[in-house]
Amino acid sequence: MSNAIIYISPNEPPEPWRKALIPCLPEVDFERDFHVWPDDMDGLDDPQSVDIAIVWRPDQGALKHFVNLKAVINLGAGVDAILADKTYPRGVPLVRMVDPALTRHMSEFVVHRVLHFHRKFHTYEQMQRDRDWEELPQDDTLEKRVGIMGLGNLGRDAARHLAPFGFRLAGWSRTEKNIDGIDSFHGQDGLAAFLGRTDILVCLLPLTAQTEGIINRRTLAQLPKGAYIINAGRGPQINEPDLLVAIDGGHLAGAALDVFCDEPLPGDSPMWDHPKILVTPHVASLSSAKSAARDIAENIRRIRRGETPENVVDSGAGY
Ligand code: NAP
Ligand code: GLV
Repeated sequence: MSNAIIYISPNEPPEPWRKALIPCLPEVDFERDFHVWPDDMDGLDDPQSVDIAIVWRPDQGALKHFVNLKAVINLGAGVDAILADKTYPRGVPLVRMVDPALTRHMSEFVVHRVLHFHRKFHTYEQMQRDRDWEELPQDDTLEKRVGIMGLGNLGRDAARHLAPFGFRLAGWSRTEKNIDGIDSFHGQDGLAAFLGRTDILVCLLPLTAQTEGIINRRTLAQLPKGAYIINAGRGPQINEPDLLVAIDGGHLAGAALDVFCDEPLPGDSPMWDHPKILVTPHVASLSSAKSAARDIAENIRRIRRGETPENVVDSGAGY
C-alpha cells in the first residue's frame, strides 16, 4: 500500500499547493496519493495509508481520522489554531512554516508601518482630507526607539531591515539573545524595561498561553506616552478593549493591526473606522506555495526516510 498525503484547510484552496508540489515531488503519484479533506476522499480507500497531513487552520477534529500520521505540515508560521484542537494527535511532529518569502513579506509590512508612524503619514493623510497645509515637527530616526516583541525568524528579519534607517532597536524574547545592534530583553523580568524604552512596539510573537493578552492595561501603561503599536502576531495577544481605552485616552498615539481576536473583524467593530487605527485583514505576510513547496517536499522526503523534519514545533513551548 502506498503512502498518501491529506490536505486539510477550510479556507486555503488546495490547488496552488498541489500545483507547486507536483514538480518538487516527482516520486509521488498525486492523482492517487494526494487527497483533499473532506471533498476528495473517494480514491482514498484506507485513511490509515495517510502518513502526511498538510494543513492550514484545519477543521477541529479532522486530523484524528488519520491514525498513522508521521507529521503534520502547517502552511503558516503560527500553529496556535492547530494546538487549540484538543483532538490533535499528540506525539505527531508538527512542522511550522519558515520560508524566505513569508519572512521577506513580513519585513516589508513592518518597515512600512514603522515608517508610516515615524514620519507621521497617518496625520498627513488626515490633513489632506481636511485640506490642511502645515508642517509637523520631524522626529530624528536616530532617536526613535523601535521594540520588537518576538526575535524569531520574523522578528530578527524585521530588525535587520529596520537597522539601515538608523532606528534604535530592541527586542524581547523568551530566552536571552545576543544580537548585534539590538538591545535584547527577555522573560517577564525584562518586559517592563523593554516597553519603557519603546516608542513603536512591533508584535511578532506566537500565540501561546503565555502571550495571550500580553498587551493589556498594565503593559500598555508601561509604554511611553505617545507610543504606537503594530501587531502582526495574533489578535488575542492584545486586549482590544484595553487598547481602545489607551488610544482614546491619549496614552497611545495609534495602532496598526493586522490580526484580531475575531477574524474576520466584525462589521460593527469600532476599530474599522477609528481615526487612529489602521486595519488590514491578516495579510501582513501570506504563505506562498511557489516559494515554500521545495522545502515542504524536502521535509516530506525526510519524514518518509524516518528522519526528523526541519522546523518542528516545540509542543511544550507552543511554538
Ligand atoms: P518564531 O521563529 O518561533 O519566533 C517566536 C519568537 O517569539 C521567539 O523569539 C520567541 O522567543 C518569542 N516568544 C515566544 N513566546 C514568548 C514569550 N512567552 N515571551 C517572550 N518571547 C516569546 O516565530 P516566527 O516565525 O517569527 O513567527 C511569529 C508569529 O508571527 C507566528 O507565530 C504567527 O503567529 C505570526 N505570523 C503572522 C503573520 C501575519 O500575516 N499576520 C504571518 C506569519 C506569522 P525565543 O527566541 O526565546 O524562543
Ligand atoms: C500567518 O498568520 C502565519 O502564521 O503564517
